[in-house]
Amino acid sequence: MLPALTQFEATARERLEPAVWEYYRSGGGQELTVGEAEAAWCRYRLRPRVLRDVSEVDLRTTLLGVTVDSPFVVAPMAFHALAHPDGECATMTGTGRAGALGVVSTRASRTLEDVGVSATGPWWFQAYLMRDRGLTEALVQRAAVAGARAIVLTVDTPYVGRKSRVDGVRISVPDDLFLVNLAQHLVPGSIGREAAEQDPSMTSEVISRLAEVCGLPVVVKGVLRGDEAAKCVDAGAAAVIVSNHGGRQLDRAVPTALALPEVVDAVAGRVPVLVDGGIRSGLDALVALALGASAVLIGRPVLWALGAGGADAVEDALRTLTADLAHVLALSGAPRLGDLDRSMVTAWRE
Ligand code: FNR
Repeated sequence: MLPALTQFEATARERLEPAVWEYYRSGGGQELTVGEAEAAWCRYRLRPRVLRDVSEVDLRTTLLGVTVDSPFVVAPMAFHALAHPDGECATMTGTGRAGALGVVSTRASRTLEDVGVSATGPWWFQAYLMRDRGLTEALVQRAAVAGARAIVLTVDTPYVGRKSRVDGVRISVPDDLFLVNLAQHLVPGSIGREAAEQDPSMTSEVISRLAEVCGLPVVVKGVLRGDEAAKCVDAGAAAVIVSNHGGRQLDRAVPTALALPEVVDAVAGRVPVLVDGGIRSGLDALVALALGASAVLIGRPVLWALGAGGADAVEDALRTLTADLAHVLALSGAPRLGDLDRSMVTAWRE
C-alpha cells in the first residue's frame, strides 16, 4: 500500500468512532476474501518495455463517453457522513478536483441533489434494486436529473453479507441518514427500512428496465465469472465491474485479481471491464489495466482520506495514486494506457 494511504488510514482510525472504523474495515464471514485482495495483485510480475519515449505520460481515459484525467474511480460506499459531516458532497468535490470519476451509493447520506451540486467532475449513481422497486426507479430518475452519467447496478448483494467479526460493535445508522434519499418516495404506512432492503428476487431483466426508466447506461457491478459477465452484456450492460464487494459479501469468493482475466476474455471487448478490491498503489492499478481493465475503483482508502481530512484529503489520495501510476507506467515503457496489454504481466508461479 502507498505510504500516503497508510497515513490516511492511521489518522482515520484515530478520528473515527470505533464502530464506524470497524464497519469500514470489515468483511464477510471470517474475512478470508477481504484479507486476500491486496496480496492477489502482488502475485503478478511485470515485463517492462524499454527504449520507449516516456518523457510524457498521459493517463487520460474515456469511460462511457466521459473523458477523465485518471483511471482511478471512487467506488460506491455507504454513509460517508459517518466519516465527515459533508459526507458524499465532500467526497465528490475532492474526486472531481483530482480529475477522477466517482460513484455515489444508494446508501448515500447526503441528497443526490446536494451531491450533484457539490460534484466538481463526472459521477455515476449506484443502484440497489430494493424490495419496493418504485424506490429504485425514483432514485435512478432523480440521479439522472441531478447529473449522474451512468447507473451502476450492484448484483452481489441479494442480502447483506453477515460480518461475524463485527458483532458487538455494530454501527446503528439513524433514519435521517439511512432514508435521506428515500423518505420522500415511501408509500404512506410502509416501513422505510423494509421497503429499502435489497430485493433478492432480482434477475437480469432489471438491467434494461433501469436503462429504460432513466435513459442512462447501466454498468453491472459484482461479477466474478466470465460466463456471468457475458450474460450481463447480452442483457444490456454497458460495462461490467469485476468485484467481490471488497470482501464484504460472500467470504471465500475469488480475489478479483484472479477473476479479471477470465471476465475480460469472455466480454471480448464488447463493453469496458472495470475492477475493484484491494487496489492500493499505482502498481496494483498497472497490473489491472494490463490484464484488460479500463479503469480501477478504490474503496476504503477514500473513506480513510475523507475521515482524515475531508475533500482536500480525498483529492490528495487520488492525486497520489494517479502520480504513482504515472511513475510506474514510465518505468514500464508504457506512457499511455493504450500501450498496456497482457504481455506486460506474467503470473508468478511458486
Ligand atoms: C462498500 N461497497 C459498496 N458497494 C456498493 O455497490 N454499494 C454500497 O453501498 C457499498 N457500500 C460499501 C461500504 C463500505 C464501508 C465499503 C468498504 C464498501 C463496496 C465497494 O463499492 C467496493 O466494491 C469495495 O470497497 C472495493 O474494495 P476496496 O478498495 O475497499 O478493497
